[in-house]
Amino acid sequence: MILPVIMAGGTGSRLWPMSRELYPKQFLRLHGEQSMLQETVTRLKGLGASEPLVICNEEHRFLVAEQLRQINRLSKNIILEPVGRNTAPAITLAALSAIDENSDPLLLVLAADHVIENTEAFHQAVQSAIPFAEQGKLVTFGIVPTGPETGYGYIQRGMELSSNAESVFRVQRFVEKPNLPTAMQYLETGEYYWNSGMFLFRAKRFLEEMATFRPDILQACLKAIETLEPDAQQNFIRVDKESFSACPDESVDYAVMEKTTDAIVVPLDAGWNDIGSWAALWDVNNKNTEGNAVTGDVFTHNAENCYINTDEKLVAAIGVENLVIVNTKDAVLVIDKSQVQDVKKVVEYLKSTQ
Ligand code: GDD
Ligand code: MG
Repeated sequence: MILPVIMAGGTGSRLWPMSRELYPKQFLRLHGEQSMLQETVTRLKGLGASEPLVICNEEHRFLVAEQLRQINRLSKNIILEPVGRNTAPAITLAALSAIDENSDPLLLVLAADHVIENTEAFHQAVQSAIPFAEQGKLVTFGIVPTGPETGYGYIQRGMELSSNAESVFRVQRFVEKPNLPTAMQYLETGEYYWNSGMFLFRAKRFLEEMATFRPDILQACLKAIETLEPDAQQNFIRVDKESFSACPDESVDYAVMEKTTDAIVVPLDAGWNDIGSWAALWDVNNKNTEGNAVTGDVFTHNAENCYINTDEKLVAAIGVENLVIVNTKDAVLVIDKSQVQDVKKVVEYLKSTQ
């Protein structure tokens, strides 16, 4: 049985000012009919998986429970992290809570903030991955890169493995977020995929790799679960604050995927986008004939290739191009589309002045 594990504890700072600490991007309706978290859950329909496990920050417990309720899903399987320690501890907690003597489910680890246009192709890739995960492989899903992006992990494919569906490869090398010259080199070889940030593996197999490569993280997570007082209402799965705060902060990509020798990559061609910036949102959204993607009350004249999103006030843009304009109740962002990664600087500035 597949147990989907949805990681929903990120801060989404590159989508400021819509994405805030109290309301990060995975809970926003940015593309499509539902919030990104809801889309992630809905996308699982037809895969034959069990009810997903969502792992998020304690602060967002009611938001997550309410969003699951809105789409008629159970909201009991929610693990609450008292502090964020990145994805390696998050997945470890999920794996630990999913196993017992008799059960070792296949964990389908998903980010809560991805767009996937072609659900069928996504399901097919997961189906191709199942036999390998059952044999103890750690499966990654690889995206054919379209540029030397430095915000992704890079997966070099190795030997092709026989599979009855699509091609599946051994992972020769996994490099998390290389610098630009390295990413450019990788692209030239034609042998690399981007890591989609989704994985399929057996829970116990993942924990074995954690025990090998990051026993410190595994121990901290074990302690955080063991020292736990049972939740009276049992509405959420809680994690002990003191022990979990002592857990090192590390992403699964550095902790396991760069180090394991037992990973494979299943190529995924499904219109995947991780909405890592406002420019990515412009990419995936519908555009008018001038190339503008607009949401809310917007007037444009002689404006081209802009992304404009406004909550309430009218935004008028004239004689401008390649701009991102995002207007919320208490903040306005105006930024050139080529510099959207620098939105983080505003967030850093705001933190420093708090
Ligand atoms: N529960 C929990 N706790 N979830 C978290 C935490 C945490 O501490 N930190 C991040 N997440 C969630 C985010 O909400 C997101 O859904 C997912 O985990 C991935 O985290 P990101 O912070 O968005 O990672 P990234 O985009 O920098 O890099 C990852 O994804 C890329 C593809 O989008 C890596 O796996 C890269 O290798 C990959 O290319
Ligand atoms: Mg991301």
